[in-house]
Amino acid sequence: MLILGIETSCDDTSAAIVKDGRKVLSNVVSSQDRFHSKYGGVVPEIASRKHLEIVNFVVSDALDSAGCGFSDIDAVAVTQGPGLVGSLLIGIMTAKTIAYVNKIPLLGINHIEGHIFSNLLERSELKPPFLSLVVSGGHSELIWVKDYGKYEVLGRTRDDAAGEVYDKVAKYFGLGYPGGPVIDRLAKNGRPDAVRFPRAKLKDGSLDFSFSGIKTAVINHGRSIDAELRNKELKQKKGKFAKIQGLDEKTMADILASFQKTVVDMLMENTLIAARRKQAGTIVIGGGVASNTWLRKKFSEAAESKSIRVFYPGKGFSTDNAAMIACAGYYGLRDGKKGSPMSLTATANMSVVD
Ligand code: KG4
Ligand code: ZN
Repeated sequence: MLILGIETSCDDTSAAIVKDGRKVLSNVVSSQDRFHSKYGGVVPEIASRKHLEIVNFVVSDALDSAGCGFSDIDAVAVTQGPGLVGSLLIGIMTAKTIAYVNKIPLLGINHIEGHIFSNLLERSELKPPFLSLVVSGGHSELIWVKDYGKYEVLGRTRDDAAGEVYDKVAKYFGLGYPGGPVIDRLAKNGRPDAVRFPRAKLKDGSLDFSFSGIKTAVINHGRSIDAELRNKELKQKKGKFAKIQGLDEKTMADILASFQKTVVDMLMENTLIAARRKQAGTIVIGGGVASNTWLRKKFSEAAESKSIRVFYPGKGFSTDNAAMIACAGYYGLRDGKKGSPMSLTATANMSVVD
């Protein structure tokens, strides 16, 4: 079965062709990073306009790269939510048109479900049940995947998402957007124990996350260094980093490495408690933050010591992509889910559980 996936929930326009749920024949992603970076985050109006300009070309490219045409496609899967309404609508209208003209099923897919399923792509050995951690720019959720399409949410963020905090810290230090990849790179030269940042621990025993405290702590730490440099009149010395002139690379790397260690420790603590509660033998991590080098290293070390298998998405499948949406669509269709009606519309807030 060949499924055309379309993903436009935020600022990446993507289309993919996936065979039988796991074999990726093509996965085209057109990034809008350069249009949003000067604002330090995604501007929704710009995002939807750019999706509209390029979506048809991205779909054609995905078909050409897979060596097929519309007549070969069995269904079209599209992200229904959560995400930016204007962005989602462009993908949904494109998918509806393709489904209507070619008389094939239209499948509205949950974006978070896509991130979970991104781990199945190009892998035959991974099957539910497993514990999933989805960490992206919009979400931080711990989900128990009982079976394909059967979920129990064990915890989610009560404020910022993990990726959002990377982006906000990067914005404060003038490192550009998205913040995750640049922090990942700069932190490699820093000492993770150089600065002790507080870590939130919710008192009610829940597995929810809270990242706004660490964000504020890192920014306040930056402000205090800024004030110190100003007092020492080092401000005039031009530093490498736009926001704090005079801040040397070593100090910057130490702050970022310590920030990253704190975020990953918080993610890992709850994930390991959840794994114990569910007696999970497999942990599956998805979302943009899943490509983080420190996160992968620490999770792999911790899992190995507990004889737990840990999976990360393959190259290009951590951040938003349409192959994961096609994969989720395949399993829905295989398990008897009906296609979505032509009245399908964008759902900005959407949970994996009804
Ligand atoms: O999954 P994704 O592409 O979009 C959403 O669904 O939000 O995730 C984007 C997020 C951004 O916040 C970005 O900074 C973060 O993932 N990210 C990373 C890395 N690569 C992307 N965070 C940490 N380390 C990375 N290497
Ligand atoms: Zn995403």
